[in-house]
Amino acid sequence: MTIQQRTTLTQFLIEERRRFPSASGDFNALILDVALACKAIAKAVAFGELGGMYGNHAADEGDSINVQGETQKKLDVLSNQLFIRMNEWAGNLAGMASEEMDDPYQIPKQFPRGKYLLVFDPLDGSSNIDVNVSVGSIFSVLRSSTDKEEVTEKDFLQAGSQQVAAGYALYGPTTMLILSVGNGVNGFTLDPTLGEFMLTHPQLKVPAQTQEFAINASNSRFWEAPVKRYVDECLAGKTGPRGKDFNMRWIASMVAEAHRILMRGGVFMYPRDTKDPSKPGRLRLLYEANPIGFIMEQAGGRASTGRVPMLNVQPTSLHQRIGLVFGSKEEVERIEKYHTEPAAPIEDDNPLFAKRSLFRD
Ligand code: AHG
Ligand code: MN
Ligand code: MN
Repeated sequence: MTIQQRTTLTQFLIEERRRFPSASGDFNALILDVALACKAIAKAVAFGELGGMYGNHAADEGDSINVQGETQKKLDVLSNQLFIRMNEWAGNLAGMASEEMDDPYQIPKQFPRGKYLLVFDPLDGSSNIDVNVSVGSIFSVLRSSTDKEEVTEKDFLQAGSQQVAAGYALYGPTTMLILSVGNGVNGFTLDPTLGEFMLTHPQLKVPAQTQEFAINASNSRFWEAPVKRYVDECLAGKTGPRGKDFNMRWIASMVAEAHRILMRGGVFMYPRDTKDPSKPGRLRLLYEANPIGFIMEQAGGRASTGRVPMLNVQPTSLHQRIGLVFGSKEEVERIEKYHTEPAAPIEDDNPLFAKRSLFRD
């Protein structure tokens, strides 16, 4: 197939917009600006050490720490700046919020204000930057309900079901942009010679079943019983209750795990655990769990806290963390079911009460 036969992101958005004759075009302009930020980040990622992109930000001054208490990498900071610069000027946004900024970003006075809010994780998988493993950017578009001069944290506290659009860019062997505007999920591949995202993966669907799971097993001693049960059953394989062998993956870039799951199914878990009682999960609701959850649900998969559907959660703060489970529908539903079932009784060594005993019911 020649390049001319492929649909560009611009063409895709214009054709989508034709279905809504009253649409102003602001939304399309916003997505194209987000895509431009992603292309600029892809370029920085691709140059790596040649572009001086490895290492910690402000390393000479003792490093800089973001609101999450995490050391910022040079690429975290640069990616955040690129998202801001590409999106602040056009008049499509009322404000922005990011993993790398403590407070909402106000649109500078010299620029017009728009009706959308942009929320993003500019660089997901930061621990993988310096080792040349896939990283990505995650974004979520919300409607702004305020006509006040400045946006506040409260304006961003909308449930994931309110998202107008969500997506991510993956900076892997190829750069891809995955986008949902609420009617399915489409995948675009960056043609680096043209600098254009081309529609290569129309209407993506997550397979309902899987034999692959992803979890950071080094946290297993902190897992809650339902998660432990699920993983134990996967590990038991063919001879266990699931009757089939499972495979395990852990990239440590959630965006790359989400992409694998979108391509061939699977389940990802970063559940709530008991490691640090002050943190109800590792990942962040507004710019990690919600946009990825939206993509999963739009592709026929499922996203959950383990207890309730992710997209129904009412956020309470901008940088709120949450337990996250997403991927193939039947697996996520199984994990949710394990959370609602009473904990399995602990078997002791008493043969009278063991599974195959006289007193088994
Ligand atoms: P970020 O780089 O934006 O802070 O996010 C990293 C996240 C996520 O991408 C990944 O799944 C997880 O952190 C990795 O956690 P571990 O360090 O526990 O593997
Ligand atoms: Mn992240
Ligand atoms: Mn990040």
